[in-house]
Amino acid sequence: MFHWLEKNPFFFSVGVFVVIAFAGLIEILPNFAEASRPVLGLKPYTVLELAGKEVYKKDHCIACHSQLIRPFKSETDRYGMYSLSGEYAYDRPFLWGSKRTGPDLHRVGNYRTTDWHENHMWDPTSVVPQSIMPAYKHHFTNIADIDTAYAEAFTVKTVFSTPYDVEGGVKLGTLDEAKAAALTEAKVIAADMKNQNVKDAVTRGEIPEIVALIAYMHRLK
Ligand code: HEC
Repeated sequence: MFHWLEKNPFFFSVGVFVVIAFAGLIEILPNFAEASRPVLGLKPYTVLELAGKEVYKKDHCIACHSQLIRPFKSETDRYGMYSLSGEYAYDRPFLWGSKRTGPDLHRVGNYRTTDWHENHMWDPTSVVPQSIMPAYKHHFTNIADIDTAYAEAFTVKTVFSTPYDVEGGVKLGTLDEAKAAALTEAKVIAADMKNQNVKDAVTRGEIPEIVALIAYMHRLK
């Protein structure tokens, strides 16, 4: 029936454009809906959490983990409340993922602790004997990039009016202030860890990637 279309490159291209534009609209339109406004009490990411999110992106955790709990009983029983679009309001980009080799991580902050993550990232089989997740030992020596995380926060504040520096919210301030705040946050996490290299680095004022990543994991709830 549509053979004439396949034989006509011009109309075929127009058809393809229309179909893709429609699909694009379907993806974009929900962003303008009320349900996509930030859920009540949602705060923007702190600079340390953003640095952890960078580690998550850089090391491609998304290749095995989703961050989107679907409204199925099997998932809500395991992970908790299904995900709402308004929870991702400050996620740029969101990391929903589609590959579910490992568990969903959208609410992992509710049930995993700092020391659990420390053991798990160093050697996943030490806490989950059958685990096929790779170890990420380099997170314990690599230093997190706080400057870039600050630039990211500053950009979304300026371009998308993400509410930093508002009453009762997350303070961003200057780069130096943000670095000091990230270090304060990092110290709390490092205090619960046993890796001496990590503790020493934080005492020196450097933040290893594992600390930022754990801050990010705790934020997912
Ligand atoms: C090759 C696939 C793969 C990659 C890549 C991967 N994971 Fe996993 N992950 C798994 C599997 C499988 C499990 C389940 C077994 C386990 O707990 O180790 C898991 C479990 C987890 C858990 C425990 C979740 C829970 O509910 O118990 C966390 C947290 C986690 N991964 C974080 C990460 C982070 C952070 C990264 C990136 C630095 C990452 N994973 C990369 C496969 C992967």
